[in-house]
Amino acid sequence: MITAKNVRHDYKIEQEEGNEKFFRALDDISLEIRKGSFIAILGHNGSGKSTFAKHLNGFLFPTAGSIVVNGIETTDTEHIWELRKNVGMVFQNPDNQIIGSVVEEDTAFGPENLGVPSEEIQFVVDEALSSVRMQAYAKHSPNKLSGGQKQRIAIAGVLAMKPSCIVFDEPTAMLDPSGRKEVLKTIKRLNREGITTILITHYMEEAIAADHIFVIEQGKIALEGNPQQIFSQVEKMKALGLDVPQAAELAYRLKQDGYALTGQELTMEEMVEVLCRLR
Ligand SMILES: Nc1ncnc2c1ncn2[C@@H]1O[C@H](COP(=O)(O)OP(=O)(O)OP(=O)(O)O)[C@@H](O)[C@H]1O
Ligand SMILES: [Mg+2]
Repeated sequence: MITAKNVRHDYKIEQEEGNEKFFRALDDISLEIRKGSFIAILGHNGSGKSTFAKHLNGFLFPTAGSIVVNGIETTDTEHIWELRKNVGMVFQNPDNQIIGSVVEEDTAFGPENLGVPSEEIQFVVDEALSSVRMQAYAKHSPNKLSGGQKQRIAIAGVLAMKPSCIVFDEPTAMLDPSGRKEVLKTIKRLNREGITTILITHYMEEAIAADHIFVIEQGKIALEGNPQQIFSQVEKMKALGLDVPQAAELAYRLKQDGYALTGQELTMEEMVEVLCRLR
């Protein structure tokens, strides 16, 4: 569904004529994302994750290389609206993404802009709100909702545009643990329903749900693989300034001490099972 080939992105950091300076935020990124997959992108602050995300819906263009989404090259300005409709974006702060003063009005904003006939809009809005389990709040003001609920409303606003892919750029960063849980649950469910999912996160536990992980460092792909492959490389992840899920770290240390673990245990449930067997 998404093919990035040798993508480079240079930000211009000095505008004066004759003295233009650039910062290379993406450096030769090539990757392939299959339809319906769940991808996580990890990397410490400033590694280039958001810059890459913004390339997927033509918000930024590659300085060199190319990105093709569903057969559309992102620089193809004739198809930019089709591209933007196809690739939804959800960001950190739900307050910046919600514009309506009533939940259902907010969700209707996207399809209205797309020119969806008004008799269909109510249906699309109901469907989107029920997908994020927020239909009971359709007539409420978004202001009084919790952070997790607001983020689910922001997701409904994206779903109402019927995207085939959603890029979540740290969607849980501003939420408390329960909000984080409900949003991650929503993301996983939408992926199971067929939406290609790209999750950028600083929470390693969230990346366990992914089929495939890319770790970005200074604009390059430093590591890639499934969660077991990535999180069993504890030293490498630490060298990249990243953590691994708690269970993975424990498994790694126990394995080093000679216990019979695979070192690929990722969740506490798996750990408990393995430890009970060891006893
Ligand atoms: N508009 C811009 N102009 C110049 N440099 C920029 C611009 N936007 C980002 N950068 C730089 O590009 C690099 C990558 O930034 P980006 O926002 O993609 O990182 P990130 O991985 O999303 O970080 P974070 O985890 O903090 O969100 C950083 O060094 C950042 O300072
Ligand atoms: Mg970012």
